[in-house]
Amino acid sequence: MEREEKRDVILGITASIAAYKGLEVARLLRKEGYNVKIVLTPDAKQFVSPLVAGVLSQNEVYSEFFVSQTVPIHVKLADADLVLVAPASYDFINKVAAGIADNVLLATVATTRAPVVLVPAMEERLWENKVLQENVRKLSEVMGYKIIEPEEGELASGKIGKGRMRNPEEIVKFVKKILDKKSLAGKTMVVTAGPTREYIDAVRFISNPASGKMGYAIAEEIRDRGGHVILIAGPTGLEKPVGVEFVQVESTEEMLNAVVENLEKAKALIMCAAPTDFKPVKRYDKKLKKDAKFEPKFEPTPDVLEITRKRYPDKIIIGFALETEFMVWNGVEKLRKKGLDMIVVNNPKTFGRDDIEAIIVDRGLKIWDIGKVSKRKLSKIIVDEVENFLIFDEKR
Ligand SMILES: Cc1cc2nc3c(=O)[nH]c(=O)nc-3n(C[C@H](O)[C@H](O)[C@H](O)COP(=O)(O)O)c2cc1C
Repeated sequence: MEREEKRDVILGITASIAAYKGLEVARLLRKEGYNVKIVLTPDAKQFVSPLVAGVLSQNEVYSEFFVSQTVPIHVKLADADLVLVAPASYDFINKVAAGIADNVLLATVATTRAPVVLVPAMEERLWENKVLQENVRKLSEVMGYKIIEPEEGELASGKIGKGRMRNPEEIVKFVKKILDKKSLAGKTMVVTAGPTREYIDAVRFISNPASGKMGYAIAEEIRDRGGHVILIAGPTGLEKPVGVEFVQVESTEEMLNAVVENLEKAKALIMCAAPTDFKPVKRYDKKLKKDAKFEPKFEPTPDVLEITRKRYPDKIIIGFALETEFMVWNGVEKLRKKGLDMIVVNNPKTFGRDDIEAIIVDRGLKIWDIGKVSKRKLSKIIVDEVENFLIFDEKR
């Protein structure tokens, strides 16, 4: 085991047919070197035996709330590094969201300050139930819990639908990603940042006020998680971040060429730059005199995202869209047209600032209003999402 000290993972198992897969999660977590303590809801004991849970976790199994103890058991358990509930039943998720804590597992989740990961498993109609969906949203947005959404497949009833628990290997990868600080070790990502410039004559150009701060924050976040970053930047005036491979470009065409060349070696592109969309049809080599008679005409620059997606159909590509109106509508349009995995829509109000207002839309058309956050915080959210794409997309 590479880790210096064992990290404690509480694995909650609820009363679902998928409970047996929870035991496999325990086995795999232990194999990865985690100290796993299993907590069974009272009903879960009908589905898996505490004896097997104890053998697989090599630890005491917790289920009884009211036993003689000096410190309440849920308070001790809540001190773990992570609380994972796999499978999490319909009943359990709704109880957590309602603030109910009448068994050890519910009380542990309510008490802990560690990251909480819920892995639902249920019939499709339960997964689609509006109360459940509202509670999943609430737990994710208000409490910051991570929800590993179920997948389509055969359900306990024999029906096919969305509700099947993700497989244990994926769940364990997700946990590792949260607990291991260097979760992107060995992975290369291309990030673009800043504006591009399109010259009219030797000294004048058209451009936009993008500062590059968002792209630089994303590059630093990937670097801090152990990833290798190729940062392709237009002129920004920012200091080059240390520990990233840096490619300086000026025009949109140069940015396109650098992206196409470097994405070959990478898993994902986060296209945060604001390339200038138009360029003068004619560029004058000399500086035009003030009284020069000229009527500049413009033509579109190449579309970096569209061309890159055609060239690399299987890479993860995240786009940004700056919109002054109909943010969601325009964002969805761009996501679809350019075949993106996710788009971050923002407005021009935060050019150059340290904060940003954003709405994220992913390829499943899940819309996530982030509101106003620091660019550093948004970079963490975006890189988390990229990591999720990496875990759950087999083909990448
Ligand atoms: C055979 C059987 C299978 C079940 N499978 C699930 C399931 O996969 N998901 C779910 O949410 N509930 C399922 N239930 C219902 C839960 O077991 C029931 O709501 C239980 O009270 C949940 O308890 P807990 O959340 O405290 O563990 C199942 C019930 C039975 C009898």
